Amino acid sequence: MFEFAPHADLGKPALYDALAEAAVAVTAGEADAVANMANIAALLWQFLPDLNWAGFYRAGHGASGNELLLGPFQGKPACIRIPFGQGVCGAAAARMETQLVVDVHAFPGHIACDAASRSELVVPVIRDGALVSVIDLDSPTLARFDAEDARGIERLAARIASAV
Ligand code: SME
Repeated sequence: MFEFAPHADLGKPALYDALAEAAVAVTAGEADAVANMANIAALLWQFLPDLNWAGFYRAGHGASGNELLLGPFQGKPACIRIPFGQGVCGAAAARMETQLVVDVHAFPGHIACDAASRSELVVPVIRDGALVSVIDLDSPTLARFDAEDARGIERLAARIASAV
């Protein structure tokens, strides 16, 4: 059993450092990407307040390889396949760039897996220059995510890229 308890009063940079340290610790010595993504999804859910979905979509699926496929997550059941370029996740995959969406209702093509979602952060996980997956965070609160959240999840993505 792993016990990681984030302090409630940590500022965002320290909270994301603690999250990344926990993610490195739970994935250490384990080569199975699905097991590692499952534990990291659980840590995202535990560490980050005010989320209604947190998890992974895996790259390289579909006939052309340009499709995201649902991976381990916490939250309600979600859309299974997302073509690159569609929705917030597909935009992050196609551009290999973080998508910080303050209001999902204002994002053209947003895919509403959970009608409660109001803001979203999607960060690509890149290994050896190639897209491995995206980390998707959804919140029921408008403008839940800011640049510190984006930088924090980008640091996490860099640290776990070799484990997922
Ligand atoms: N909203 C995402 C789809 C995935 S769910 O939020 C889990 C999107 O627009 O890509």
